Amino acid sequence: MSGFSFNKENEEKFQALLQRYPNKASLCLPSLWMIQYQEGWISQEAMVYLAQKLDTTPMEIQSIASFYTMFNLKPIGKYHIQLCKTLSCMLNGSENIRDYLIKKLGIKPGETSKDGKFTLSLVECLGSCGTAPVIQLNDDYIQNVTIEKLDEILDGLK
Ligand code: FES
Repeated sequence: MSGFSFNKENEEKFQALLQRYPNKASLCLPSLWMIQYQEGWISQEAMVYLAQKLDTTPMEIQSIASFYTMFNLKPIGKYHIQLCKTLSCMLNGSENIRDYLIKKLGIKPGETSKDGKFTLSLVECLGSCGTAPVIQLNDDYIQNVTIEKLDEILDGLK
């Protein structure tokens, strides 16, 4: 018995997708997104649940979920700060931003603050190199990041 199941809204979305895709395997990525939006992360239990729904194995789901860095395989903070560490961002000061965030939040990349508010991650190119350095804060991009801009945004978060 899995400890996870889709909420009503996601179950309806899943059923609607099922009508549209001839192959259940195609539902894997959208389903992983639904799990992540529902729970904030994708647990082993959720993978077992999804494997049953898609007639596949939990191992198969895990290999897909772990391939994509946008899926969180452990619980994360309310605010997920993903700082791009790739070349354009690096050349435009992402390392200073990283060091500043480590100091300000008191956590290292890959960690979550004790109050559960912030998770800091370093990620590969976010596809917005022209506005480097870039941070993805939950679903939003912060572009041309400066320490001042970041302070203002982070200090305004509840
Ligand atoms: S290098 Fe940072 S967004 Fe592309």
